[in-house]
Amino acid sequence: MTAAAPSAAQGSRGGRGPRPNPRHVAIIMDGNGRWAKKRFLPRAMGHKKGVEAVRALVRSLRDNPVEALTLYAFSTENWGRPADEIADLTALMKHFIRNDLDEIAEAGVRLKIVGDHSAFDEEAVALIDGAVTRTAGNTGTTLAIALNYGAQAEIVRAARAAAAEGEITEEAIARHLDTADMPPLDLLIRTSGEVRLSNFLLWQAAYAELYFTDVLWPDFTPAHFAEALDHFAGRERRYGGR
Ligand code: IPE
Ligand code: IPE
Ligand code: MG
Repeated sequence: MTAAAPSAAQGSRGGRGPRPNPRHVAIIMDGNGRWAKKRFLPRAMGHKKGVEAVRALVRSLRDNPVEALTLYAFSTENWGRPADEIADLTALMKHFIRNDLDEIAEAGVRLKIVGDHSAFDEEAVALIDGAVTRTAGNTGTTLAIALNYGAQAEIVRAARAAAAEGEITEEAIARHLDTADMPPLDLLIRTSGEVRLSNFLLWQAAYAELYFTDVLWPDFTPAHFAEALDHFAGRERRYGGR
């Protein structure tokens, strides 16, 4: 390999030569319901297993480090689900923070929320705010959880803020997105075989590599994540003997 590796900034923009690890990966964690259905279990069990997949993935960042990981946990459209499912998801979120925050904080992870989490109940909001504050000074991976997130609403908010400041430019909008302090999105993964973006990171995905897998989210392991990173690096094509 004689050619210089492209810089991280060029990494997501295509071009030839091996690419570095993605700086910012986002995941649409889909398929919890189908995972449960296949096993004749209640949907809540699929969500519970889904949280376990999140835990394993976050732990694995020690071996597969990325600067930023954004996880789609609850969309603005998910309010349309039955109240008991929303209650199950909220309870799981609280449990995750209570149970995992120490480990996450000690691993140097900085937690961040994209979307408007103030729509959840008071206890959830307090737990989330506490977790964000506690990890704010950490310098490891930024773990952004998308909660009550919708990309179109985010773009509208950012455009309004940009207009209030003066001119609406690409830079001004980008500066007001919820992800403004994160590296550019390099790789967007969706599990469960659905091939759509479901109102996730529409602006940020402009130059991202898209990776779709049939694996249902509760079955998604750190090895699957590593496969997606390999795909991003283009290893299969680079070493194919051409
Ligand atoms: C993703 O799994 C989790 C959330 C949207 C919260 P789903 O609940 O959408 O699972 P499927 O798509 O019904 O299988
Ligand atoms: C997207 O999945 C939202 C999350 C993973 C949180 P959905 O299951 O809600 O999306 P659709 O309904 O299939 O588009
Ligand atoms: Mg789904």
